[in-house]
Amino acid sequence: MSSTVRTAPRTAPPPRPAAGPVPFVDLVAQQREVDAEVQDGLREVLAGAAFVGGPRVSRFEADYAGYVGVGHCVGVASGTDALELALRAVGVGPGDEVVLPANTFIATAEAVSRIGATPVLVDVDPDHLLIDPDAVAAAVTPRTRVLIPVHLFGQSAFVEQLVPIAERAGLAIVEDAAQSQGARRHGRAAGSTGDAAATSFYPGKNLGAAGDAGAVLTDDDATAARVRALGNHGSEERYRHDVIGMNSRLDAVQAVVLHAKLARLEGWNRARRAAAGRYAELLADVDGLRLPVAAPGNEHVWHLYPVRVPDRDRVLEHLRSAGIGVGIHYPVPVHLTGAYAHLGHAPGAFPVAEEAASSMVSLPMFPHLTEDQQVRVADALRAALEA
Ligand SMILES: Cc1ncc(COP(=O)(O)O)c(C=O)c1O
Repeated sequence: MSSTVRTAPRTAPPPRPAAGPVPFVDLVAQQREVDAEVQDGLREVLAGAAFVGGPRVSRFEADYAGYVGVGHCVGVASGTDALELALRAVGVGPGDEVVLPANTFIATAEAVSRIGATPVLVDVDPDHLLIDPDAVAAAVTPRTRVLIPVHLFGQSAFVEQLVPIAERAGLAIVEDAAQSQGARRHGRAAGSTGDAAATSFYPGKNLGAAGDAGAVLTDDDATAARVRALGNHGSEERYRHDVIGMNSRLDAVQAVVLHAKLARLEGWNRARRAAAGRYAELLADVDGLRLPVAAPGNEHVWHLYPVRVPDRDRVLEHLRSAGIGVGIHYPVPVHLTGAYAHLGHAPGAFPVAEEAASSMVSLPMFPHLTEDQQVRVADALRAALEA
């Protein structure tokens, strides 16, 4: 009688996430969700040949103004243009000073410089890396015209502290709301608390177009009219040009994409919030890691998820070689860039921004990020920190 070798029944091992790279963002998954609607809209735009402005643009502008809770949304060609146009519309000109944080994307400063005004940089708070209201108060001079709170990484700056500083000094507030579509502070939407706000619909933003696009938001009729005229060659009436403007208008193609994505923005922001919560759980016990946190009163929309780590460049290399898509936001604070060397700030001028620039790593963050992908990111980060 032949004997058969019987092996003991085995319990299946717990499923491990499939190996493979994790992208930093997945815009293809977003497009898949809106594809049918976008294709229909594009066919309509192409058939009607209303490419710049037109009913699709007006409809999106009205919808987005309603979503933010302001009277006007003026679509423009980029977030950088939106900042420049908003600054010009509230009266900033050559020689004026504009206060903004050292830890921001360079576009915030660029817009100020492009109109001949001077960016006055200040540091950010150590816990959230948002513009520090005490530093703002100390930076105001008789030449200061405007203050730009940047709602960075997806959460609002401390507007309730900034507004009184601006009021006391007679400054306008132009919010940089490029990274904060859907964010709220004490119930008020980012982009609705200043004299005007600029937002960017760059494809990777929480509300992203299929190319460059942006908008100015304001409650003030005159500011909205000025932005619209300045972005249309300084013209309110065809071929009448009372001021020197520029060409910065929203395309109908972008309005189609933005309309479809706006309908999903709240759900996508909820998914980002859930992903941020999962990272916080997965990474809670990792030594040496500093996780991003929402300031009390903020409804964060997690445009980015920047953690702070020791020996950042080594950790970055380790994550990259494990196939994890990562970024740095931002590796060089504005004052230490070549473009702003002329401001004359030495290293050490804005220590919080500088420390953050040398220790931040932005982990993958997008609405379609799966739990398996997050486990892979967390495992790779843990291994990188323990290596
Ligand atoms: C904080 C901030 N401000 C301004 C901008 C400029 O926007 P855009 O790239 O659409 O010109 C961006 C986006 O890149 C940004 O992140």
